[in-house]
Amino acid sequence: MKISVIGVGYLGAVHAASMAELGHDVIGLDVDARRIDLLSAGEAPFHEPGFTEILRRGLDAGRLRFTTDYAELADAEVHFLSLGTPQRADGFGADLTALHAAAGSLAEVLPARAGRPTLVVGKSTVPAGTARGLADRLERLEGVRVMWNPEFLREGFAVKDTLDPDRLVYGVRDPDGADTEIAMLDEVYAGILERDVERLVMGFETAELVKVSANAFLATKISFINAIAELCEATGADVTDISRALGMDDRIGSKFLRAGVGFGGGCLPKDIRAFIASAEDLGAGQALGFLREVDAVNQRRRVRVVELAREMLGPVRGRRITVLGAAFKPDSDDVRDSPALEVASRLTSAGAHVTVTDPEALANAARRFEGMTTVADTTEALRGAELVLLLTEWREYRELDPVATAQLVAAPRIVDGRGVLSPRDWREAGWEFRALGRPDAPAADTASAPELALS
Ligand code: UDX
Repeated sequence: MKISVIGVGYLGAVHAASMAELGHDVIGLDVDARRIDLLSAGEAPFHEPGFTEILRRGLDAGRLRFTTDYAELADAEVHFLSLGTPQRADGFGADLTALHAAAGSLAEVLPARAGRPTLVVGKSTVPAGTARGLADRLERLEGVRVMWNPEFLREGFAVKDTLDPDRLVYGVRDPDGADTEIAMLDEVYAGILERDVERLVMGFETAELVKVSANAFLATKISFINAIAELCEATGADVTDISRALGMDDRIGSKFLRAGVGFGGGCLPKDIRAFIASAEDLGAGQALGFLREVDAVNQRRRVRVVELAREMLGPVRGRRITVLGAAFKPDSDDVRDSPALEVASRLTSAGAHVTVTDPEALANAARRFEGMTTVADTTEALRGAELVLLLTEWREYRELDPVATAQLVAAPRIVDGRGVLSPRDWREAGWEFRALGRPDAPAADTASAPELALS
């Protein structure tokens, strides 16, 4: 099929290359000419395992190309809208400017199809009601049908999640009268559906809510365990043991129960805020009041790491602190709303000499925070540190040897902000070891509490 993908950011670029991988003839469009040049040259604008391979395969096979010109989209049968919907500058709501602008530009070239069936499929994460609004506008053009098909991909697994998803959600105006558009999208995804992937058809608003509910649930799960971590800090309990024990209950499940410095990235933080804003707009704000607390717990974890630094060093002004990790999660170069970078920037503002290191994300980190000291080599970054903060759990940081690392630093002090290091190993190697939601002292010390007086 002839397919266009409008907006080739993270989601759109992966989607375009994946559709070419499925055998379609794909054209990706973006208003960012630099991005289009990079993609056309087979260069990935971001770090994503497996993406460069499918990008180049599509380009080499002549099934994938990129443009900035809407006129080149005129003969596509299916158009995917994968524009970013960032948080608005003036509040919690989603900024739909790019999505509406793209729909407007697309509407100008759609009449070239002369009434032949044409499908416009929204993939962006949007507040409920957006799809219906766009459909009301675009379906006035003869032959045009609109669907909403949310995307659940995770960075780091984006190619796999696109080509081998857990489920496909089709949002339509009328679930009982959408055979034409469902058949068209089935044809697009034939290579996926033949592997028995579940495909769920539902109304527009339901499909929109599935996506935001999924992200809200994941964020809630993380903030839940991080709230328990706060309790652990107040009681001397260990949140990693609680996570493990909770996760063994099938009804709870072990995923997304890793306590630490919390969630970041381009999706979860802004999506829960947009969800709150949209519920309030709909007069149902009370239903999602708890998400404000989910957000607040998440923010508090970042502040807690800064407090721990102060507890360990005293005033941080002039002290040398090394932050391990800049990306919002490992295996990504994305630094949007990165907890690690927020901690680094708070400590820098407090006068500390902060060095940030990361295997992939330093260029993006330096762009976002000018003047931040970045050092690519882990050993160099650790040399002379008076405090080390592990805030993104890249494998190479998880596997650091406490004995060898102690030789590099000026003073062996570490905060494990992701709950991935062995407190015992690090303490045995002479480190002052603190972690979020874990006891401050070795278990043996906490056990030597004064004996209870027996009456
Ligand atoms: C998320 C959703 O998972 C995905 O379905 C949606 O399409 C986009 O948003 P992503 O942003 O790639 O994907 O990251 P994800 O793997 O979900 O992690 C989000 C954040 O939560 C990261 O900062 C991660 O470090 C943190 N996290 C995750 C935890 O703090 N604890 C956990 O147990 C899991």
